[in-house]
Amino acid sequence: MPKPVTKAIFPVAGMGTRFLPATKSVPKEIMTLVDRPLVQYAIDEARAAGIEEFIFVTARGKSALEDYFDHSPELEQKLIDSGKDDLLAELRHTYMDSGQIAYIRQHKAMGLGHAVWCARRLIGDEPFAVMLPDDVIAAEKPCLQQMVEAYAETGGSVVAAMEVAPEKTKSYGILDVSEDNGTTVKVKGMVEKPAEGTAPSNLAVIGRYILSPNIMSHLDNAKEGAGGEIQLTDAIAKEISSGEGVHGFRFAGERYDCGSKSGFLQATVAFGMARPDLRDDLLDFLSDITAIQAAAQ
Ligand code: UTP
Repeated sequence: MPKPVTKAIFPVAGMGTRFLPATKSVPKEIMTLVDRPLVQYAIDEARAAGIEEFIFVTARGKSALEDYFDHSPELEQKLIDSGKDDLLAELRHTYMDSGQIAYIRQHKAMGLGHAVWCARRLIGDEPFAVMLPDDVIAAEKPCLQQMVEAYAETGGSVVAAMEVAPEKTKSYGILDVSEDNGTTVKVKGMVEKPAEGTAPSNLAVIGRYILSPNIMSHLDNAKEGAGGEIQLTDAIAKEISSGEGVHGFRFAGERYDCGSKSGFLQATVAFGMARPDLRDDLLDFLSDITAIQAAAQ
């Protein structure tokens, strides 16, 4: 039985340029999907998977994110006084126990690999999860929980993967597969953003990882890779070359790239439709607006 995964790193130090000007003052991870910030979805998913320690790699301008997890005694008292028990429960759901959450600064946005490496001392010699909150996954069983179950069988490292169209492979880390067992695949290589026509498969890695602590040593002297950034993909590729097991995991669920405007809008519609209190209104609006668009064409 591999060591259990109880720590997760949330790299949130990126500048979120695709959402400028909003991200000038609002961290991307605080942006709201229906009524909760992106980061809350990631935290809920992590908790469901048994994560007990939450490590945020942050940067300048992200203090709203730290405040979000703080307790709010005045707000709490107001909700108690007004008997708004549902909202009170929602509010308390966002609280983290003292000592459960840690913040590390990435002083310069040098890439995802570098952000993960910034948390090395808090990880020590244990396996850990990495979760990118801008990848939001709608799934019956939360994605990280599915991965933890797969990891209990495979050990080593497990990365979440999904099939993408061949012309999209250049935007992702792509797996080179040595053995395809359906839900899990054994990986013999991994390449970040391959040039068009050179991708070893169309199996793309998305923002959920369970990683062996060896990855931190691979990141120790990491050089810049694709896009001039220190890439997590390159460290995972080193792990594969050193003979350690890395598996891709085809998760069950729908992933929304909330780091892009179009993905965020799609997620807003999908998550809105999944809410019984919003579904009918939203559906009416969508059919009206589609009819108007169709008539105008
Ligand atoms: P992205 O590639 O989405 O970059 O990072 P970004 O800065 O967040 O957004 P854009 O492209 O400028 O719009 C993927 C994840 O890696 C984190 C980001 O916060 C995001 O969760 N990251 C990226 C870091 O923590 N540090 C970095 O140096 C780079």
